[in-house]
Amino acid sequence: MLVLGIDTSCDDTSAGVVTGDLAILSNVVSSQDEVHTKFGGVVPELASRKHLENIIPIVDSALVKAGVALKEIDIIAVTKGPGLVGSLVAGISAAKAISLALQIPLLGVNHLEGHIASSLLTKNPPPPKFPFVALVVSGGHTSLYLVKKDGEGEGGTIEYVLKGQTLDDAAGEAFDKVAKLLNLGYPGGRLIEKAAALAHDAGWEGVTFPRAYLKKGSFDFSFSGVKTSVRNYIKASEKDGDLDDELKGRIAQGFQEAVVEVLAKKSISLVLTEGVDTLVVCGGVAANGRLREVIFEGAVEHDIRVVIPKRELCTDNGAMIGAVGVLRANEARLDNLSMNAISRLKI
Ligand code: KG4
Ligand code: ZN
Repeated sequence: MLVLGIDTSCDDTSAGVVTGDLAILSNVVSSQDEVHTKFGGVVPELASRKHLENIIPIVDSALVKAGVALKEIDIIAVTKGPGLVGSLVAGISAAKAISLALQIPLLGVNHLEGHIASSLLTKNPPPPKFPFVALVVSGGHTSLYLVKKDGEGEGGTIEYVLKGQTLDDAAGEAFDKVAKLLNLGYPGGRLIEKAAALAHDAGWEGVTFPRAYLKKGSFDFSFSGVKTSVRNYIKASEKDGDLDDELKGRIAQGFQEAVVEVLAKKSISLVLTEGVDTLVVCGGVAANGRLREVIFEGAVEHDIRVVIPKRELCTDNGAMIGAVGVLRANEARLDNLSMNAISRLKI
């Protein structure tokens, strides 16, 4: 089986080809960072326009890299939500057109299920065994799920039980907003990581910011408080003139530590509470080296197996949507052409 996966949920246009046994034949991503950088964030109208320009070349490139022809594809899997409606529609329209023209069954995929499925595409470490806890941590979401499978083998149904989620900002959104406050640029996550690493290597201590654990035993998150503390700290510091690189680095490092510590502690605590042995961490923020490090440290202490896909599988990509196509192959239909974009789709 060959599945073509397409994702245009936010600002990356991506397509990938995966096989029925979850091997990646190609995974092509065209980033729009250049378009949105000068605005300090994604401009939805520009994102959808750029997707329209990019989608066919990106699909072509994914097929060429995989060495397969479109007519050999068995299923087209495309993100139908959550995401920006205009962006989603660009990918869905292309997928519908290909499905109709070549009579290839179509499947609408939940983007968050795609992020979780990215862990099944890993070879080293091997993919997780069900049941496991998944932390989905991206620009739009920060959620903890217990992921179970009923029945054995390919026929089993996967169930996602939401155990906690952010009550305000997503972690990635907080990274992006703090990067903007520090004038580091966009997208903020990796720029904060870079500034924090420079500060760490130079021996500059991170500023201490508050951690929001919420009430005892809660697996929900809140990141707006730490973001406000950073804003207030910057305002107070600016009274003495512009922030220099050292202070920016100390703020970036302190902010990153505050977010990473809460994400790691709550995820590990849920694994222990549920009595499972594996933690999957996925979504754009899972590309953060410090988050990976702190989670691995905590996991070793409790003998928990951690699966974090490589960085290019953490951020938005088509292969992860293709992986859901493989898992849900029996739901792909030729008459799925009435499918619509759903911006707030839940798993
Ligand atoms: O999953 P993703 O590519 O798109 C969404 O579904 O939102 O995640 C994008 C988010 C952005 O907020 C970006 O700043 C963040 O992931 N991100 C990072 C890093 N790389 C990307 N956050 C922290 N550290 C990183 N290295
Ligand atoms: Zn995403």
